Amino acid sequence: MKISILALFVTIFAIVLLPALTPSSAAAMVSNDNSVQDELIKCLLDHSSASNPISSLIYAPQNTSYSTVLQSYIRNLRFNTTTTRKPLLIVTATHVSHIQSSIMCAKNLGVEMKVRSGGHDYEGLSYVSIVPFFVVDMFNFRSVEVNLVEETAWVDAGATLGVCPTVGAGGHITGGGYGNLMRKYGLTVDNLVDAKVIDVHGRVLDRATMGEDLFWVLQGGGGGSFCVILSYKIKLVHVPKNVTVFRVSRMLDQKFTNLVDQYQHVAPNLDHDAFIRLTLDVTKTGLRATFRCLFLGDTQTLVSLVNENFPLLGLRKSDCLEMSWLESVLFYYDYALGTPLDTLLDRQPSSLTSLKRKSDYLKDPIPRHGLEGLWKKMVQLQTPQLTFNPYGGRMAEIPANATPFPHRAGNMFKLQYATNWDGDENERSKYYIELTRKLHSYMTPFVSMNPREAFLNYRDLDLGINHQGPTSYVQGRKYGLKYFKDNFDRLVKIKTTVDPDNFFRNEQSIPTLPH
Ligand SMILES: Cc1cc2nc3c(=O)[nH]c(=O)nc-3n(C[C@H](O)[C@H](O)[C@H](O)COP(=O)(O)OP(=O)(O)OC[C@H]3O[C@@H](n4cnc5c(N)ncnc54)[C@H](O)[C@@H]3O)c2cc1C
Ligand SMILES: *[C@@H]1O[C@H](CO)[C@@H](O)[C@H](O)[C@H]1NC(C)=O
Ligand SMILES: *[C@@H]1O[C@H](CO)[C@@H](O)[C@H](O)[C@H]1NC(C)=O
Ligand SMILES: *[C@@H]1O[C@H](CO)[C@@H](O)[C@H](O)[C@H]1NC(C)=O
Repeated sequence: MKISILALFVTIFAIVLLPALTPSSAAAMVSNDNSVQDELIKCLLDHSSASNPISSLIYAPQNTSYSTVLQSYIRNLRFNTTTTRKPLLIVTATHVSHIQSSIMCAKNLGVEMKVRSGGHDYEGLSYVSIVPFFVVDMFNFRSVEVNLVEETAWVDAGATLGVCPTVGAGGHITGGGYGNLMRKYGLTVDNLVDAKVIDVHGRVLDRATMGEDLFWVLQGGGGGSFCVILSYKIKLVHVPKNVTVFRVSRMLDQKFTNLVDQYQHVAPNLDHDAFIRLTLDVTKTGLRATFRCLFLGDTQTLVSLVNENFPLLGLRKSDCLEMSWLESVLFYYDYALGTPLDTLLDRQPSSLTSLKRKSDYLKDPIPRHGLEGLWKKMVQLQTPQLTFNPYGGRMAEIPANATPFPHRAGNMFKLQYATNWDGDENERSKYYIELTRKLHSYMTPFVSMNPREAFLNYRDLDLGINHQGPTSYVQGRKYGLKYFKDNFDRLVKIKTTVDPDNFFRNEQSIPTLPH
């Protein structure tokens, strides 16, 4: 059965993926390599089948709809400029055969192929490249099939999530995506039971036919290095009929350092049912700490839990709201109370900005002098925000090599540095990117080192860029150890077996072993 699963959510299950529609807008572009483009089109047309023709799905820059199609899933306006390199073509695949032909033609012509699901890669890697390339766009693959008896769901790569509404399942899951249920149930990939992919030979494989090595890779090894992911089968989890949420802000004052210090000690050690995220930002009236909580239980239990363990927050019963888990998704994303649930089906974000993200892992609490320096640094820099995502709970129980995602026991928090700005001028972007780097640099003494760990889904090209070629392994090791730690070597081994010629590649893909 292919259905919109909204109604099902409301009753029993919590999963975070929803399908829907596409948008519009226009302008034309000029190709940078006409002959490769022509050959690619010719090859695609030559291999098109009568039953699933590809001709009406190929968008070349000369096509009046090209810009609209390209821009529909550009989610970082920093890459919506006239100087950003544009794809030779966009193939808006609707059938497996279109992806198979794309792989084959790209391989024959030696052209880089990028796959885009939700387009939310923070560095735009699904639609930007440092070399000539084309895009296979997955937005038409968006069905979600729920099996209530089995308590599983098949989710296509181009379906969008709920928690961060317009993010694609394609990038999110293969990057080791997490949501607010992470401390209770681990990552999405910790609940993955099967997948359908197309490998470099164009074969459609599932878990049984791909084997456990390739399946392991899909659990956090990242998109763009091994295969094209069509669909994931996920184990559903139970949530209570109602959950409890709160969002409480405190401004910088005498007690602020004590407050955040206590939070640091408490949040990763709380009951698995509680997830309390902290975001620090600078408002017109000064530095602010906002605590957002999702609790899988009732208000009374949450208030007792917080007041016993985190009394400095001063949580009151009136700060808490009970609602369905699905409503809590909207609440957590700061939608106004009463926002209709089907807002989660919108595939177009309500606003877009230019942005930069970086990440870090905290193994120990930041000492008090470090916190006090942080307040000063943030007030000085103004724009960058810093978010603490507490780990612990289920995250700490899963071995670091169970999946490619290595940041498990021993990590108290994942930090996200986030800067958003309006405008896409190069100088402006440089300025705000530099602010983000400064905050990240301030944190150096307090965060993980050797390697300084980073979260793959918070893509950051500052960690290194792979220009491929003979030293690609050395280049890849630089960012690879930060994203994958000891799992990097296994990823390289599997890559070398399944894609020895390095067809699936991008600026931060997994390299093959040097010959
Ligand atoms: C507002 C917002 C909130 C976020 N919140 C969270 C969060 O709570 N938790 C979290 O874990 N992450 C979060 N992220 C990060 C997000 O998970 C990643 O950016 C993710 O990679 C985006 O997936 P996508 O499909 O939208 O991106 P895309 O740009 O389409 O793809 C990302 C990468 O995966 C590759 N890829 C995409 N689809 C496929 C495919 N089908 N087969 C092979 N490779 C593919 C692309 O080539 C690219 O390299 C958030 C991002 C945003 C913008
Ligand atoms: C643009 O491309 C689409 C898809 O290939 C095709 O259907 C359409 O006719 C093209 N339009 C123009 C003006 O080339
Ligand atoms: C992206 O740039 C184009 C101009 O090239 C513009 O028309 C469009 O509105 C921009 N997209 C967004 C979301 O701002
Ligand atoms: C869930 O919470 C809402 C809002 O407080 C309430 O109206 C509703 O009765 C609750 N449902 C259950 C099953 O407890």
